[in-house]
Amino acid sequence: MNSQPSSLRIAVTGAAGLLGQALIATLRGRGHVVIAGVHHARPSWPENVTLLPLDLTEPRSTTQFATSAQADWIIHAAAMTDVDRCESEPASAERVNRDATRDLISAISQTQTRMVYLSTDYVFDGRDGPYSEDDPPNPINVYGRTKYEGECAVREAPDGHVIVRSASFLGIGGPRRPTFIERMLQTMRDHPPLRAAHDQRGNITPVDFLALAIAELLERGLGGVWHVAGREIVSRYDLAVAVARMFDLLSTAVARCNYAELGRPAKRPLNGGLIVTKAETTVSARCDGLALSLRKWKDGLADRIV
Ligand SMILES: NC(=O)c1ccc[n+]([C@@H]2O[C@H](COP(=O)([O-])OP(=O)(O)OC[C@H]3O[C@@H](n4cnc5c(N)ncnc54)[C@H](OP(=O)(O)O)[C@@H]3O)[C@@H](O)[C@H]2O)c1
Repeated sequence: MNSQPSSLRIAVTGAAGLLGQALIATLRGRGHVVIAGVHHARPSWPENVTLLPLDLTEPRSTTQFATSAQADWIIHAAAMTDVDRCESEPASAERVNRDATRDLISAISQTQTRMVYLSTDYVFDGRDGPYSEDDPPNPINVYGRTKYEGECAVREAPDGHVIVRSASFLGIGGPRRPTFIERMLQTMRDHPPLRAAHDQRGNITPVDFLALAIAELLERGLGGVWHVAGREIVSRYDLAVAVARMFDLLSTAVARCNYAELGRPAKRPLNGGLIVTKAETTVSARCDGLALSLRKWKDGLADRIV
């Protein structure tokens, strides 16, 4: 039987991001008091969501946010998430992903506030995945390194914090901030073929499921490292083919290639992926299989267009 968790005060960094927006909706739906850390983007939220300005490049702003939120939990979802941009602007990635996490941890160190830090499958090198929570990270690009350095700041703090590693979010960003899968679809429709790597493999994670699992972890006070993602591990090529079929596109909409042929600035963990058994056996939030997740995402897109 589900017991109703008591209301918590929860601050969310990156509240306007893809996961941040799902978190705000989920946490409000579960009766929590939500404080949204906002940077440039300001979506229209209901009036009872408190907005607090936050610029992670400014230590003073970061500290001010952490102290004035007076939260039971800070879910630290803000990050520089563009993997190729991190590679070309390493100093910015270090500032936002690593140093600001240190600033937040230091600001809450003398308080009762605990942190949920969002991390990534890119902390692993992708030589012999999938990986469990106990496998040693070995990042191969600036994004993965700086996110892992953020993890280290959280691990060095006293117990009670949570690190959630996830992978490739499935969600709706819309025309202004299309998600990776929306960009895939756009290319297949407007500029085919989409070149998709058969040797880049990982999990796909519906962002609403991730928000629900995070809510449950913090309501139950479960600390430590958690891998939370869709169970199946697929190649980018197989994912692209599945999306093309779902939208009745011609098979020529996708071209199979190696990751190296894409000429991207940053390396990716290729044979990667997260083992999610620990979360699956502990958390009651359930992730649909990939086919159903994609169908729900497609339905969500259609609703958005209407
Ligand atoms: N997306 C994925 O597939 C994926 C996979 C695994 C893990 N993750 C992790 O999950 C978390 C959420 O990812 P996401 O895809 O939801 O992110 P996102 O949509 O790219 O949003 C990032 C958020 O961070 C904010 N932000 C960036 N720089 C900031 C700064 N200097 N000060 C304050 N806020 C700043 C952005 O605000 P503005 O837009 O207003 O600047 C935005 O709200 C991240 O920690 C990411 O590393 C993501």
